[in-house]
Amino acid sequence: MLPVKIEAISIFPEFFDVLGLSLLGKAQEQDLIQFQAHDLRAWTEDKHKTVDDSPYGGGAGMVMKPEPWGRAFDEILSAKEASTVIFTTPAGIPFSQALAQELSQKQHLIFACGRYEGIDQRVVDYAATKADVLEVSIGDYVLNGGEVAAVAMIEAISRLIPGVIGNSESLTEESHNAGLLEYPSYTKPSSWRSLDVPEVLLSGHHAEIDKWRKEQSLARTKKNRPDLID
Ligand code: ADE
Repeated sequence: MLPVKIEAISIFPEFFDVLGLSLLGKAQEQDLIQFQAHDLRAWTEDKHKTVDDSPYGGGAGMVMKPEPWGRAFDEILSAKEASTVIFTTPAGIPFSQALAQELSQKQHLIFACGRYEGIDQRVVDYAATKADVLEVSIGDYVLNGGEVAAVAMIEAISRLIPGVIGNSESLTEESHNAGLLEYPSYTKPSSWRSLDVPEVLLSGHHAEIDKWRKEQSLARTKKNRPDLID
């Protein structure tokens, strides 16, 4: 099978160095995923490698200029292969486990990371003529740029690509898969600083353990994420 190609375009490609660590580093060594971070400034043509300018209509901050992005997409997107471009922005659709699942089935993902007050909207419109395009947010807060958001999404997506995680059971058991949060976990020792592991988990009684875990999932979801419960 061809490796899944994941690329990022950013003025700080160093943010993506962390993807060489741990499981994702291993997935690249095994050729399950091919990851590449590009420096947007490589597609500038002026001496100062300018990527931003003041906004039309006025207002605070700077907007990323369209020309370097256009050249980047012309080089990275090919008519021969289906690609999905993800613009990271707090103004996007919410990222979720379901979206991670959907994106983990794609062969070519490109994360376009905005900085400042965002990217000239025509870049998004232009990319949409060449590829599937999504504007995606990782949560209702504002980061300094899209890089950290892209790293979070890449990690959530990559671990769903077949072969990346050895034990696929750990994928189906975890939080956000059944629409509920995960139950609490414990390991040895059974008693620590006067705090004891719940008795049922030591019982070896699997039906009782399952029942306890379901109750805990529900209780935790009610407490931490009441919005997930109908
Ligand atoms: N860029 C800045 N804030 C962001 C967010 N919450 N999600 C995605 N990209 C962003």
